[in-house]
Amino acid sequence: PVYIFRCIMTDSRENWTSRSGFIIAAVGSAVGLGNIWRFPYVAYENGGGAFLIPYLLALITAGLPLLFLDYATGHRSTGSPPKAYRALFKGGETLGWWQVCVCIIIGLYYASVLTWAGSYIYFSIGQAWGSDPESFFFNTYLQTSKASGFDFQFVSHLLWPIVGIWTLTLVILYGGVKKGVELSNKIFMPLLFVLFTVLVIQSLRLPGAAEGLNAFFTPNWSAMMDYKVWLAAYGHTFFSLSVGFGIMVTYSSYLKPKTNLTGSGLIVGFANASTEILAGIGIFAALGFMAHAAGKEVQDVVSGGIGLAFIAFPKIISSLGAGADLFGLLFFSSLFVAGISSMVSILEVPIAAMQDKLKWSRKKAVTIIGGGSAFVSVILFSSVNAIKLVDIVDHFINNIGIIGGALLSIISVAWFKRSALIELRDHVNRISTIQLGKGWDFTLTVITSLILLTTLSMTVFNLVKNGYDTYSMSLQGIFGWGSVIFCAVVAVVLSKMKDR
Ligand code: ALA
Repeated sequence: PVYIFRCIMTDSRENWTSRSGFIIAAVGSAVGLGNIWRFPYVAYENGGGAFLIPYLLALITAGLPLLFLDYATGHRSTGSPPKAYRALFKGGETLGWWQVCVCIIIGLYYASVLTWAGSYIYFSIGQAWGSDPESFFFNTYLQTSKASGFDFQFVSHLLWPIVGIWTLTLVILYGGVKKGVELSNKIFMPLLFVLFTVLVIQSLRLPGAAEGLNAFFTPNWSAMMDYKVWLAAYGHTFFSLSVGFGIMVTYSSYLKPKTNLTGSGLIVGFANASTEILAGIGIFAALGFMAHAAGKEVQDVVSGGIGLAFIAFPKIISSLGAGADLFGLLFFSSLFVAGISSMVSILEVPIAAMQDKLKWSRKKAVTIIGGGSAFVSVILFSSVNAIKLVDIVDHFINNIGIIGGALLSIISVAWFKRSALIELRDHVNRISTIQLGKGWDFTLTVITSLILLTTLSMTVFNLVKNGYDTYSMSLQGIFGWGSVIFCAVVAVVLSKMKDR
């Protein structure tokens, strides 16, 4: 009956043109700034080689099981998260709106990092960062040093590029699922593949690359004893796979009724993890090159952190001599192309949700939701505060917003409504080649749930006790906790609203 119901429901809803169209779009969403910008710096900060094993375990014990759950949820009920979770369990709509809100918040700062990537494509030509990329990034480009706390000083060279990023994103979204999202991914993904392959091959040819790879692939058992490394691994895997915050629920809702879900999921998961590991290889090979030149250890060669891609890479690029321009163009174009396709997917979630709830036309939803987000994002992130806000909001929204949403989506069915979990499993198995067995139920019910529950509790405890990094309490309160509280309020209020 569910299958027949879906056939009727899908008539009025846009679909991907084919399964491969969906896979390309889903890979486009998963492969993003998370893979090329975030993964290397999170790995670097968490002991380099120490990170790879927790990362792979997080992928297997949490990322992939949740990917299948997200697919099943969106596909079965043909809806964005509020509609999809409402169909599954009582109170589900509130969880759906929480995930929608998490997407909006991520979109606000994602546009900012994308703006940096875009600007750095241009800076690569002739290496505008000169001999001190760190000072160039913080002082000349972001002008961070001008803000002691929170300061409404605008930086004009950040303003226009971020307006450009939002314009491009909204133009793609106006095109709809087929002619906007799918078509753009069919252009961006092959382009990314070519750029990225050349980039990684180039990195491996640098002198000293092997030292970097040793640092990346040698497990550091003592660092693995640090629970923070594990928290970082679980915090990263969902962001990277685009699961737990509604994207895969929404994307799979545009699939035709009979689609091989598990096969598609494995392709997407594999493509994402490979890009991430390749990005790690590329960046660590390049770090090895720097260590080699400076006579230092790989882990001492740069200060880690959020700026790694924008500080370490320019340093490496500058030292390349003749090939510098080309290498810089390749790296920052890859970052940009990967990011824009994910940016589109992040915004697709609130747009689909408003279309479902209020029966808005696509044009209206893109204009109001996209335009409103763009306005807030431009105001906040074209100022001297940009990098602080990116760091704070990213930390809170990943570790509480995404993990919290993921945990709730899992335990709601695995612990409190088993019949829904079994129904989802049956739904997947009816149409997929690789069958989900009891192992999947068990992983979600016991392993994933308990790990996420522990991760979330420890993160919240840590943040309450020690705060995040050295940022002032007021900044963390307003932008960190503020984002979390804002999403909780949005979730409750919107789920009480009547549908049109
Ligand atoms: N999955 C997207 C990324 O990795 C959000 O950037």
